[in-house]
Amino acid sequence: MKKLNFGVIGCGWIGTGKHISSLKQHPHARLVAICDCDPARMDQAEKQFELQEIKKYEDYRDLCLDPSIDVVHICTPNVLHYEMTMAALKNGKHVHCEKPLATRSDHAIEMVETARKAGKRLTIGHQRRFFSSVQYMKSLVDKGELGEIYYAKALDARRRGVPTWGDYMRKERNGGGILFDGAPHSLDMTMYLMNNFKPVSVYGKVMDKMKYATEGNPWGLWDPTQSDVEDTGFAMITMEGGAIIYLEAAWLINMIGYANSTLLVGTKAGVDMQGENGQVRVNKIYNDKMVVIEPDIMPPMAALVGQFEVNDRNAPGIEIDNWIQALLDGREPFIKGEDGIAVVQIIESVYKSSETGQAVAIKPYL
Ligand SMILES: NC(=O)c1ccc[n+]([C@@H]2O[C@H](COP(=O)([O-])OP(=O)(O)OC[C@H]3O[C@@H](n4cnc5c(N)ncnc54)[C@H](O)[C@@H]3O)[C@@H](O)[C@H]2O)c1
Repeated sequence: MKKLNFGVIGCGWIGTGKHISSLKQHPHARLVAICDCDPARMDQAEKQFELQEIKKYEDYRDLCLDPSIDVVHICTPNVLHYEMTMAALKNGKHVHCEKPLATRSDHAIEMVETARKAGKRLTIGHQRRFFSSVQYMKSLVDKGELGEIYYAKALDARRRGVPTWGDYMRKERNGGGILFDGAPHSLDMTMYLMNNFKPVSVYGKVMDKMKYATEGNPWGLWDPTQSDVEDTGFAMITMEGGAIIYLEAAWLINMIGYANSTLLVGTKAGVDMQGENGQVRVNKIYNDKMVVIEPDIMPPMAALVGQFEVNDRNAPGIEIDNWIQALLDGREPFIKGEDGIAVVQIIESVYKSSETGQAVAIKPYL
């Protein structure tokens, strides 16, 4: 059986919870090395996942130079994604980079073009595309049941959901706050569903009005004096062709909103998802009446699923499996590096627009 050799950089929340755990159980993957600047994290991962004969690197450059590795997974704070991806690609590795692809669009473009020139694959950790709700909504779009989609909402409004571990609250490490945390997922889901990754302008605003409201957070307290990022961001994004996406992102807001969700409005029907992978509702006119359909959704589509048990909780495993299958088949991954460029362009433009009070024009990446 053909096996690929993997190295994982960053043994924190997602490095262990999605990457090491999924690679460890995949029949076509051999996890040969891990890296973390904190050796205790590596020791913990080694113990937790019983990683026998694993190589441990404290410097990511050494892992990238390791000739035995075919594929590198990057699970470190956002601002490190660029330099680590570039180092891996330049050393002939395929790269799975966690979201967001980068914190600057020029970096995101360079990463995509470097992968292309090197003949290597690049994917991004947007496992939410594999939710059955998202796949169901996509099937409606592809069958033309919504008509022309001219409005959408990319939603990640958490009443309380401030990530208090790691570097999420430091701009120099996370690139920003909620916009570089939750917004990439909801923007990716929405643009994927619309089949349109071409934003042309953004008008937006970021705020930190709730910075001191530390109570009630499921992930514990934080020190507001150590946070220099926004807790909320809103934006109106115009896409090529004229459709509008409204972005609503917050990790701290007094609103019963939807986390990791999306809503599409078309000329024939509309569809939304009530919260993360929540109940899908289709609204349309049937027999001259307004109806709302709440379909019983089947597990993710067979074509997207390989070795893993088919259930929604395993969307991360399905994502990793899909990536491995693409590498083995020598085809483009389902989540392409290119798709990440639009996400970064939008977020970067929300910050710019918030500073200037003006809409920001974007040149879509072709
Ligand atoms: N796909 C998802 O749903 C999802 C969920 C959570 C996080 N993420 C993304 O994953 C990344 C990591 O997030 P996390 O929550 O796992 O953070 P984390 O803080 O739990 O883990 C980051 C790890 O990187 C290590 N690290 C930091 N600098 C390093 C360096 N120079 N060299 C080697 N290791 C280094 C840290 O020691 C830590 O162990 C972020 O980009 C985040 O946006 C994605």
